[in-house]
Amino acid sequence: MSKTIIVSNRLPVKITEKEGEYVLNPSEGGLATGLGSIYRQGYNIWIGWPGVDVNEAAQVQIKEQLGTMNLMPVYLTQDEINNYYEGFSNEVLWPVFHYMSVYARYEQVYWDYYYQVNTKFRDAVLEVAAPGDVIWIHDYQLLLLPGMIRAAAPDVAIGYFQHIPFPSFELFRLIPWRVELLEGMLGADLLGFHTFDDSHHFLNAVTRLLPLNATANVVTVNDRAVVAETFPMGIDNSKFELLSQDPEVLKQVESLRENFHGTHMVLSIDRLDYSKGIIQRLQAFELFLQLYPEYIEKVVLYMIVVPSRDTVAQYKELREAIDMLAGGINARFRTLNWHPINYFYRSFPVETLSALYSFADVGLVTPMRDGMNLVSKEYVASRKDSDGVLILSEMAGASKELIDALIVNPNNIGAIARGIHEALNMPEGEQRRRMKQMQQIVSKFNISHWVKLFMARLQEVKQLQQSML
Ligand code: UDP
Ligand code: G6P
Repeated sequence: MSKTIIVSNRLPVKITEKEGEYVLNPSEGGLATGLGSIYRQGYNIWIGWPGVDVNEAAQVQIKEQLGTMNLMPVYLTQDEINNYYEGFSNEVLWPVFHYMSVYARYEQVYWDYYYQVNTKFRDAVLEVAAPGDVIWIHDYQLLLLPGMIRAAAPDVAIGYFQHIPFPSFELFRLIPWRVELLEGMLGADLLGFHTFDDSHHFLNAVTRLLPLNATANVVTVNDRAVVAETFPMGIDNSKFELLSQDPEVLKQVESLRENFHGTHMVLSIDRLDYSKGIIQRLQAFELFLQLYPEYIEKVVLYMIVVPSRDTVAQYKELREAIDMLAGGINARFRTLNWHPINYFYRSFPVETLSALYSFADVGLVTPMRDGMNLVSKEYVASRKDSDGVLILSEMAGASKELIDALIVNPNNIGAIARGIHEALNMPEGEQRRRMKQMQQIVSKFNISHWVKLFMARLQEVKQLQQSML
């Protein structure tokens, strides 16, 4: 029986250490939450890192436990975590691919570990791969893996999907190992991106840096056709629809209603990341209170920041800057009965997220750059009465689909402040008209549609390659 092998740096569950014991928890981030619903089918398996340096004594037992959940761990040592994950992945690729290249540190040792850990993932894949299997690799931490697997198993079907933007050539060319990265990616048969611009930027980088030509979106590599295409990722729409009717969620909505009695809620949910525009969002909210003082005591910014990569210097600094700014705004505007920002630095169970999505009058999603941004889609899917307003950054992949949101430039603090005012004053009829349009899109182009489309296209590419022989 053939299977799909999903490979990503992070597994959809992560291990954390609590009083000497290892505990399993769901992972955060769009990749894990998005694909979380599909890997359990059939004999499929998901290979990835469980999130901590697990001591050797526990490795075998954890591998067995994860095996019962169709998961296979790749263990990383502390040096690999520092240099491959925090280093090359998150101090080179992440900032450059999100157009923040000033944060990049092009260290040779990061690259050496990146190469080494990609071979570790290759060995794990080859351990379980059988003829007829499809290998589906995800995201920027594993750009070399398609090429490495192709070298070991030339005929295998390999898909690659990138969950973050692919930057314009002028950014990508900064990376010293740019050629090796492209060659690694071209080991795949089908490369998927969230937006047309991302796939276009990838093809542009290929034709400018390698001795290869592209005809439309097909690159021929050693007589093998490689296709780069756009597949905007969806969410498990019905899960969020159902959750919004769940008795536990309804109970939480009720208690929010009691606590907020008449105060509007503007909701913001992100991982801690400089790509998410959290500082600018806080500045915009401060400006909103300054411009429209009639909203004092009438509106709250409910801001969830999920801890992420806080061992990387820029993330640590960002956290401190957010603490300071949120604290400063609260100190400046608070009254005896009210403070403007409810700020949480932690993650929440999906039921609580659903209650917040259901309750919030406004979803405020303003990243500086984002591959897709699933939070915006989850907000839309959770609005069972089709009211509420989404304010969405034009720099998020989702803005290409959710065109009925209030679309803003995240660098334009004034536009965000005015957007909040417009959202809070939008007539219900207009709210519903916009929200219904967006709900149709989120429901139709859901996660299973995305998986089917990608897999069908991969089969077509394999057939195209056969016909070229
Ligand atoms: N999320 C979560 N726990 C939380 C807050 C958020 O699991 O406490 C999830 C959220 O539901 C969403 C994902 O994290 O599915 C974030 O994905 P998105 O695409 O918005 O951004 P990313 O983190 O991938 O950059
Ligand atoms: C984004 C990336 C994922 C990553 C996630 C969480 O969604 O596209 O590849 O897994 O962020 O980040 P982390 O570094 O904690 O895995």
